[in-house]
Amino acid sequence: MEELIKEIQELKKKRRAVILAHNYQPDAVQDMADFVGDSLELSRKAAASPAEVVVLAGVRFMAESASILAPEKTVLLPDIFAGCPLADSIDAEALRRARERYPDAAVVCYVNSPAEVKAESDICCTSSNAVQVVQSLPHRRVLFVPDRNLAHYVSRFTDKEIIPWEGSCLTHCRVTREDVEEAREAHPEAKVLVHPECRPEVVEAADFVGSTGQILKYARESRDREFLIGTEMGIIHRLEAENPGKKFYLLSPGLICPNMKLTSLAKIAQALREMKPVVRVPEPVRSRAREALERMLKVG
Ligand code: 13P
Repeated sequence: MEELIKEIQELKKKRRAVILAHNYQPDAVQDMADFVGDSLELSRKAAASPAEVVVLAGVRFMAESASILAPEKTVLLPDIFAGCPLADSIDAEALRRARERYPDAAVVCYVNSPAEVKAESDICCTSSNAVQVVQSLPHRRVLFVPDRNLAHYVSRFTDKEIIPWEGSCLTHCRVTREDVEEAREAHPEAKVLVHPECRPEVVEAADFVGSTGQILKYARESRDREFLIGTEMGIIHRLEAENPGKKFYLLSPGLICPNMKLTSLAKIAQALREMKPVVRVPEPVRSRAREALERMLKVG
């Protein structure tokens, strides 16, 4: 393990590379990364970093976003099979057909989506800015793709008509209302913090709803000492590291995203050694997807 870490450090210097990791990554990968964050933070970092190579320790759509925003950089995804079933629940052709059915609607596209779908959308959003993005639009109707639970969450904050796509995250959907009730009984002092990809009844039963970055911020700033967490288990590593003395419990067993766990230190070393697998979004998809992502970055 120590040798691998040393090798990655040397390769990073040699390649002028930066390692960006999502909050769901395995603990050892988070510890090795130059930056750990949520989807929005990773997009911003990829665009702003002076590095020539970005190792995106996450899943494919995150590497695509980095490549779209920073085409001059080489973006490496340590395991090319790290996908996202939610992102795969939509493709560009299906979205084009839906647009024809709702010609007056703006298309808001959650970043958990393929680059081709972003290219067909008016604006992107992440779970940390979805409400602001929708509110920033002049349209009365919004076709919100591909996560129906995030669409439902957004609809609580706006008078606009939100037309949801029928995708969802298998991991977040594991949390049930009963899980929340049982966990509250077992830990009556604990605050319930969940991701907006959870089912609507779980979101309604929570004390706080936010992206992984917002959950981390809430826990840091809170005076409470115990928290029940409704998102992927990888976040517990940072929650515990940043909050000594506070206690964190997962709301349900099995909150694990198998795709996020495909990254390892060995695969990061191999990617830097061989400079592959590279994720590159070709033109003209890249330029069109970039417009949708940049509109989002301007909103916040
Ligand atoms: P955030 O880190 O932006 O909350 O998104 C996590 C994610 O991709 C959930 O599936």
